[in-house]
Amino acid sequence: MFGSLKALPADPILGLLAKYREDSNSQKIDLGVGVYKNEAGHTAVLDCVKRAEKHRNDTEDSKVYIGPTGSPLFNDEMSKLIFGHHKVLIENRARTISTPGGTGSLRVAAEFIKSCKAGATIWVSNPTWANHTGLFEAAGLTVKTYPYYDYENKTLDFDGMLAALKEVSSDDAVLLHACCHNPSGMDLNNEQWQQVVEVAKGIGFLPVLDMAYQGFGKGLDEDAYGLRLMAENVKEMIVCSSCSKNFGLYRERIGGFTLIGETPLSADIANSVVLSVVRGIYSMPPAHGAALVETILSSDELRTQWHAELKVMRDRINGNRQLLVDKLVENGVTRDFSFIARQSGMFSFLGISPEQVQQLQDEYSIYMVGSSRMSIAGIANSNVDYLAQSIAKIL
Ligand code: LMR
Repeated sequence: MFGSLKALPADPILGLLAKYREDSNSQKIDLGVGVYKNEAGHTAVLDCVKRAEKHRNDTEDSKVYIGPTGSPLFNDEMSKLIFGHHKVLIENRARTISTPGGTGSLRVAAEFIKSCKAGATIWVSNPTWANHTGLFEAAGLTVKTYPYYDYENKTLDFDGMLAALKEVSSDDAVLLHACCHNPSGMDLNNEQWQQVVEVAKGIGFLPVLDMAYQGFGKGLDEDAYGLRLMAENVKEMIVCSSCSKNFGLYRERIGGFTLIGETPLSADIANSVVLSVVRGIYSMPPAHGAALVETILSSDELRTQWHAELKVMRDRINGNRQLLVDKLVENGVTRDFSFIARQSGMFSFLGISPEQVQQLQDEYSIYMVGSSRMSIAGIANSNVDYLAQSIAKIL
């Protein structure tokens, strides 16, 4: 059976992790996978998570099966985090389940869309997260792209995006990054969201909002602006959320899948299909990460602490953006990189060729994705001079 297989290359993002770990250069810099790192280059467990974990250890008294929906308290707290005080919650039209990370949520979304319409088309931004296309295709969806990032001008191709969305058919799905666009760091402003929402409402396609970085852009509520506006205006919608980044729970694999139905009854019917999808893939989600998140979100004290820790992460990433721009200028780079400071979230494209990306890796032990996507959190005061000098040299 296995004899016909051909080896596949390592994942373009996760493969970098292994290479970086094997590199013995003491000056190596990891700008690859999207994980937050502190000034010392460490991805530490948040203090609020440590406290929630202690509470969990002290109080957990069973490991019995939890069921495909996961923890009801987590689902409830996540809905509030995503939507705030929103009419879809008041109208009882949203159904949230716990999923194994954001990726698990996206896969549930894909399988659910397939249950609605076999071979359905989902539109994704060009570019999008490297895993989106493979993940949706693996579930049998047809993936098409709409213009998004203007590589030449390092900005959003909003006219191109809007024109393409106006041509989408009403029985297609459209994936939108709620905030901190991965990989470009280019987000829609509020006015642009309003226009996209108008198009979605007019056509009636299914918006699928991927929110993997809530709180990493401008703030928890600010980052949910477009998502909440969309939810206010459309009849049906899906949200795929992740607690990997904003709670630092990467390896715990915890996220949420939310659907909004036109009525409470249609939401229940759709949710029953989602639960059968879950049963057929992983049966039920892991419980530990959900328990930590629900403990934090349902405690005033821990939630306040989490907000403060999240702000530290957000501010550091935003500070790194300006720091790199300044250091490049300081090191005599004349090309304009100021766009990096105007972008948002974990990533930006440096805008160099794949050959130059490879050169940075081979000669300077600086690791970023082949598209020149940098994970901004990997920059630190201790490595930014070396980084800027190396970029100056390969330019
Ligand atoms: C990334 O884009 O680097 C992260 O979302 C991690 C991953 O799974 O790819």
